[in-house]
Formats: sequence, structure tokens, C-alpha cells
Amino acid sequence: MLRGGVSLIIEKYSRHKKPISNEPSSFLAREISGLNLPKGSLALDLGCGYGRNSVLLSRHFANVIAADFSYKSFSDLWHLNCKNIHPVILDCRQTLPFLNNAFSAVIVIHLYHENLIVNLIDAIQPEGFFIYESIAGNGENWRDLSLSGEVKRLLEKQFIIKYYLERPVGPHKKNATVKVVAQKKT
Ligand SMILES: C[S@@+](CC[C@H](N)C(=O)[O-])C[C@H]1O[C@@H](n2cnc3c(N)ncnc32)[C@H](O)[C@@H]1O
Repeated sequence: MLRGGVSLIIEKYSRHKKPISNEPSSFLAREISGLNLPKGSLALDLGCGYGRNSVLLSRHFANVIAADFSYKSFSDLWHLNCKNIHPVILDCRQTLPFLNNAFSAVIVIHLYHENLIVNLIDAIQPEGFFIYESIAGNGENWRDLSLSGEVKRLLEKQFIIKYYLERPVGPHKKNATVKVVAQKKT
């Protein structure tokens, strides 16, 4: 039997529906095409869902780890269409099961957790990229968004911020939607 907190979280995300469109994030598509990536590079799509962004990444990187904590994300076997996509089940609230400096880029689209950034920083190589796009700020979404300035504060010591767009949302404008491209310092 699962403990109460864990079962509640799994219940919440198991309600996450398959997106109507398989189109990747337009922000990611725009930013990824402008990056100068080393040959043979490895990307992590953290919270990959049903893989719309992993498939895009598989065209830019030699290999892509598509990671999610819900086995349902992989249930229709979308990842088998691309030989260089490797599915992994993990929980980004825990220390990630990867070596330090494993990835040329870590991509997180539409997922946030207070330990998310701290947990993934060591897995990014020097000069590697972190690309993040939060969920939109509609309705009650602000409850699942970072605090204003939080993402920048967590990154700016170890990363050069290449692009940063933040929009305050919520009843007190204390939370924010964020889009960021950051490159790890050497
Ligand atoms: C809103 S969906 C976004 C999926 C995908 N990034 C996209 O843009 O289509 C959020 C995804 O994050 C996953 N997720 C939520 N909490 C997680 C956690 N703690 N660790 C790993 N994945 C998580 C969910 O299972 C879900 O597939």
C-alpha cells in the first residue's frame, strides 16, 4: 500500500491527460535549433510525458533519456519509434540517478518542483544547457508555479542566463511563469 502523500501525488499526475497535439513546445523548438551542440551529445527530457519534446530532441542529440515518474507516459510505446530515445522511470524530487556531467542539456517543460533545479544541476556538463518552460499561468496553475525570481536565483551562481522571461501570476503575483535558457559555467 502506498503512503498517503505519495498516492495523492500519483493520483494527481495520473489524471494528466495525453496532450491533444503531439507538437513540441514552440519555445523549445525555437531555442534548440540555435544551440551549438557537441557531436554525440546526450539530453535529458525530465518529466517527458508522452514524448512530444523527446521526439524533437532526438533529432538534435545523439541520444535522449526520456524520464518520467509515471509508467503511463510510456504505456503506448511511443519511444520505440526513435532508436535513440531511452525511457527511464524516476522521481525528480529525489537525487537523480545519473553521473555528474552526464548531459549536454537537461530540458524540463511544464513541470516544477522546489527541488527540481537543485537536483539536476550536477548532471549538466560545464557549457551544457538547461532549458525550462513552466506551465502557463491560467486559473489555479499558479499554485504549481515557482515563486517570482526563484528560478533565476537558483541558476545564476552556476549558469550564464542566455534567455529569461518571467511573468508574475496568481492572486498576489508572488508566483511566476518562466521560460529560461541557461548555460553552465566552466
Ligand atoms: C504537464 S506534463 C508535461 C509533459 C511533457 N514535458 C510535455 O511538455 O508534454 C508533466 C509530466 O511530469 C511528470 N512528473 C510529475 N512529477 C514528476 C516527478 N516528481 N518526477 C518525474 N516526473 C514527474 C508527469 O508524470 C507528467 O508526465
